[in-house]
Amino acid sequence: MSKSFKVAVLPGDGIGPEVMAEALQVLDAVEKKYAVRFERTFANVGGAGIDEEGKALPQTTVDICKGSDAILFGSVGGPKWESLPPDEQPERGALLPLRKIFGLYANLRPAIIFPALTGASSLKEEVIAGGFNVLVVRELTGGIYFSQPKGIEGQGRDRVGIDTMRYTVPEIERITHVAFQAARKRDKRVTSIDKANVLSSSILWREIVEGVAKEYPDVKLSHMYVDNAAMQLVRWPKQFDVILCENMFGDILSDEAAMLTGSLGMLPSASLAQGSFGMYEPSGGSAPDIAGQGIANPIAQILSASMMLRYSFAMVEAADAIDGAVEAVLNQGLRTGDIFQDRPGERRVNTKEMGEAIVAAL
Ligand code: NAI
Ligand code: MG
Repeated sequence: MSKSFKVAVLPGDGIGPEVMAEALQVLDAVEKKYAVRFERTFANVGGAGIDEEGKALPQTTVDICKGSDAILFGSVGGPKWESLPPDEQPERGALLPLRKIFGLYANLRPAIIFPALTGASSLKEEVIAGGFNVLVVRELTGGIYFSQPKGIEGQGRDRVGIDTMRYTVPEIERITHVAFQAARKRDKRVTSIDKANVLSSSILWREIVEGVAKEYPDVKLSHMYVDNAAMQLVRWPKQFDVILCENMFGDILSDEAAMLTGSLGMLPSASLAQGSFGMYEPSGGSAPDIAGQGIANPIAQILSASMMLRYSFAMVEAADAIDGAVEAVLNQGLRTGDIFQDRPGERRVNTKEMGEAIVAAL
């Protein structure tokens, strides 16, 4: 029996449509190789939404997303729309509402160093030899960024700035399940990050994580204080598989992990809701500096499609095949400008050539 999934395709603006075209070719190839159909509906978002329908997130786009099993998102933003009020600009007007409407509480950001690209990292080659792959699972809708009370009170020198870090048991439980389920599809290790020597929310966090872990006896759990984790990521990143974090710790550690890998053009992300629904997009933005030239790296978008298969459609084998095709093409020496280092065996290619090579490798 052939499976079928509905995908809302939101290319956005800037390099979004250019890299999305290549990700869609990869989905075509997956349809041919596996018994599956991806029913795609295109919709405007960001600058494209503003230009075509007068709004960064048109209602028609929201409706298309609601009727889909997952959202494949490109990127949005750029100088063309900078004079609009902040809430109407492509990024704030589209991304934040999408997170809210669809309850996207879990942010997954893998930091991948491919063996062929260890030279692009800021870490010493012997530390990352053979490559590595760390997945940061970040709680996205709670913690110190959202908890009350917050604000600035009082007058003059008596003013007080207040933030609150608050986590409920259900909030901790659901993000912990996401981390453990992700670990099951990977190397079966979770490192939970907290500051349980200082913060009460972390003491509860650790207790609840321990409880949830009992449901996953096949996955190994360890705990680490966030300050130590920041050090360990640059000292020996290969010790990590899945890193589970509350919102702010995850914000910081996922950026740190991303920068170990070299180029933003390589890094996908997923934002998951309860159940199997998710939104998948490159970690980077619309790259206005290179948009329209056909030279952007499509790999972040292609790996985002791979994450969609892995996390929303449970197609682990196809996702592994896409990741493997990307690795094979890098091993052949193909490089878009952002990862080109002019080393022996490297060949500089454009967006289309990179996409076609990955499809061929599949
Ligand atoms: P950016 O990620 O667009 O670009 C930063 C640098 O990385 C640029 O030099 C760019 O050329 C390069 N880069 C990014 N993706 C690349 C790719 N696939 N291939 C090759 N090079 C790539 O971030 P920036 O410049 O801070 O923001 C540009 C616009 O994007 C802004 O309007 C910003 O608001 C928006 N943005 C949108 C995001 C989204 O759609 N989720 C996320 C981050 C920024
Ligand atoms: Mg950040």
